[in-house]
Amino acid sequence: MKIDGTHYRTIWLAGDGWAVEVIDQTKLPHEFSTVRLETANDCARAIKDMTVRGAPLIGATAAYGLCLALRADPSDASLDAAYEMLAATRPTAVNLKHALDEMRAAVAPLGTQARAEAAYACAAALCDADVEICRMIGVHGLSIIRGIAEAKPGQPVNILTHCNAGWLACVDWGTALAPIYMAHDAGIPVHVWVDETRPRNQGAALTAFELGGHGVPHTIVADNAGGHLMQHGLVDMCITGTDRTTATGDVANKIGTYLKALAADASDIPFYVALPHTTIDWSLTDGVAQIPIEERAAREITHMTGRTDKGEIVTVEISAPGSPAANYGFDVTPARYITGLVTERGVCAASREGLLGLYPERN
Ligand code: MRU
Repeated sequence: MKIDGTHYRTIWLAGDGWAVEVIDQTKLPHEFSTVRLETANDCARAIKDMTVRGAPLIGATAAYGLCLALRADPSDASLDAAYEMLAATRPTAVNLKHALDEMRAAVAPLGTQARAEAAYACAAALCDADVEICRMIGVHGLSIIRGIAEAKPGQPVNILTHCNAGWLACVDWGTALAPIYMAHDAGIPVHVWVDETRPRNQGAALTAFELGGHGVPHTIVADNAGGHLMQHGLVDMCITGTDRTTATGDVANKIGTYLKALAADASDIPFYVALPHTTIDWSLTDGVAQIPIEERAAREITHMTGRTDKGEIVTVEISAPGSPAANYGFDVTPARYITGLVTERGVCAASREGLLGLYPERN
């Protein structure tokens, strides 16, 4: 996608051909800057501190982390140590493990001299595949939006989304936002309700930044506004991303997604979840019981960072000093609240049968 007329992916190789550059998402929307990653440790830190975030981008960054580790030392010990360190960075998004497994399978059988070059080729292929997968999610999701638009000619389709599941969360295009970009580009009038998505405000900071950059009409709302909007007929559909999807169609996504799904169910509003196959954990059958939910630092709840009227970026404490805070990063939306899963292979029911219909090789 473009920033000020220049096309960017979220991750790319630096001009020297070996270091990795990423957009520093902790600085957005107030400052656009990039960070150079030179070691596997740099990649692990970038994932942990959320310089990069979003399930597919975490996977891509980990893949390049392995490249950097093997460039420095292509031994088995180096491969194993980097794999373990990168896999431990964030627990919920399964794309991380998926990317690392694919990388390891590609390089482990090779002699040490051949590993680094093969790793870079594999990481580049993973990134290119992610772009194409997200584009196809957009194509399939577009038909849902088009269907709703045809039922209300001349009026915008109001879409509610949570967190950031746009191009910043992936390599390009995004998951939940890809259909929205395609609908907008196709001339379908869309308007997006952007949940601010406390505590880190990925909606207000990142989704709004992306949509604004592409010219998509949108409005930021407090996380608690969704139920009200739905009760009053102001939402035609919801679409979110997911960080891990069970084989039975439960999804883990940014904390608060579940409450939106409950409200949508109560108001009979379709609730879609967009995902690449790399988000599916085929080994799980019960999301609530089995998906590990990340708990992050309390400071993300008790403090907020923003820009003052004078243009300074400051962090302030917003809670009663000394009060403890619990910071759950994700929640699980059970499959029964999900109208459909939008994948690169098409739209299916959120169920084992639905997913196997699209991915029969998993049967
Ligand atoms: O904690 P984050 O910002 O990495 O969480 C990201 C999300 O929850 C996204 O919605 C998600 O990764 C799904 S799709 C790109």
